[in-house]
Amino acid sequence: MANLYTDFAGIKSPNPFWLASAPPTNSGYQIMKAFDAGWGGAVWKTLGVPIINVSSRYGAVHYRNSRMIGFNNIELITDRPLKDNLREIESVKKRFPDHAVIASLMVETREEWHQIMRDVTNAGADGVELNFGCPHGMCERGMGSAVGQEPKVLQTIVGWVKEVATIPVIVKLTPNITDITRPAIAAAEGGADAISLINTIQSIVGVDIDHFVPYPIVDGKSTNGGYCGPAVKPIALNMLKNCTQHPQINIPVSGIGGIENWRDAVEFILLGASSVQVCTAVMHYGFGIIREMVAGLEQYMDEKGFRTIADMRGKALPNIMHWEDLNLEYKVVASINEDKCIGCQLCFTACEDGAHQAIGLSGNPLQRTPHIIEENCVGCNLCSLVCPVEECITMERRDAGNEHITWKDRTLAGNIPTSFNDELAGGIDHWVPEAEEGLGKVVARHYKVK
Ligand SMILES: Cc1cc2nc3c(=O)[nH]c(=O)nc-3n(C[C@H](O)[C@H](O)[C@H](O)COP(=O)(O)O)c2cc1C
Ligand code: SF4
Ligand code: SF4
Repeated sequence: MANLYTDFAGIKSPNPFWLASAPPTNSGYQIMKAFDAGWGGAVWKTLGVPIINVSSRYGAVHYRNSRMIGFNNIELITDRPLKDNLREIESVKKRFPDHAVIASLMVETREEWHQIMRDVTNAGADGVELNFGCPHGMCERGMGSAVGQEPKVLQTIVGWVKEVATIPVIVKLTPNITDITRPAIAAAEGGADAISLINTIQSIVGVDIDHFVPYPIVDGKSTNGGYCGPAVKPIALNMLKNCTQHPQINIPVSGIGGIENWRDAVEFILLGASSVQVCTAVMHYGFGIIREMVAGLEQYMDEKGFRTIADMRGKALPNIMHWEDLNLEYKVVASINEDKCIGCQLCFTACEDGAHQAIGLSGNPLQRTPHIIEENCVGCNLCSLVCPVEECITMERRDAGNEHITWKDRTLAGNIPTSFNDELAGGIDHWVPEAEEGLGKVVARHYKVK
């Protein structure tokens, strides 16, 4: 039976699911409620000199029928006095001694870092998370992502914290940077016990086109915010992988960004995360989502034969390599299951206009069903991605499976295109229609305007 018990850089929790520092961890009331529901840990809403917030504060990207696939905020750190938060940390730890309570911190001077470290340690926090990620408001005051973007400054501040730390120190990184491994290495070299990523991505989620103001609107004006929720998961996964594959980053990583269910959490763990943190999904659906997350993770681990989180951590990492190491001889083509096809022709349009003209239409002109022209198909996947019917278009292997030649191999063998009109160009034998054949072919589709 799977055991979800987690030891993250010495911070222990009954499972790897932690609440990220954000509105759901604003108070002891919320954190007790969350632990009671099954959450393993919580990173307290960032503590520091209390701020004053604006209203409104949130914007969102709704896509078709899905609400909040991306979420944006211009909220700052806690607006509550430190003494209230410390008192509540103490009472949560008394009631839930086996759960992880991590204090997120953001202050400015060395003296303030020392003081707040002592305060949260005395209150019983199991660890601290240094918020070097907030991309709005605080960074303009020289904190948050302003630190996360400057590895040297980051390392200095980690050093200040470590001068007095008696509990594990996690450094939370900003994704608003070209190479996430630079601040991650600086954190490790500064003595951090772990890192967490990602904080929010600087963003503007939309513009009110009647009043010419981006969202969220504060008395007719706006500002850039921080993006999170399901839309950011791919960016978070990539940054996680960059850190967990890096030979100089040998400290645990807590994965954050778009995690909504057990499957998302598994993906983060397979890419090397030792715990995961959730914010937007809880703001959307409440603490109750933890029940399915725990049950789903346990069932997955049992099915795969993983006894502990450590057993499964990083299992996908050996399968991520540089492009130049991928097999150029591997060939797939699309295949349409006619029994499943509903004749929507989305695949035809996508391949015709956006890919390689490898889908033809045949049969009754009113119900024309698509078929694949194999010799034109480059196996790009686009048709299977746009097809609305599950498993209707699958990709089938066509090479013999006995050759493995990479770009690196071909480069070493001097067998790559090097001039503009090189005979070795990959598309040299690939048929494309004559340019003029494209004229007069587009049939307008009619969309309803609300
Ligand atoms: C409204 C809001 C407030 C947040 N406040 C904080 C904060 O005080 N400190 C912090 O480190 N991160 C803060 N975050 C970032 C989250 O902790 C988290 O890193 C980010 O939302 C990505 O996770 P998600 O996709 O699960 O939301 C906040 C996020 C939101 C949406
Ligand atoms: S895989 Fe790409 S090229 Fe092949 S049929 Fe589909 S869209 Fe066209
Ligand atoms: S997208 Fe799928 S369902 Fe629609 S026509 Fe193509 S194969 Fe059929």
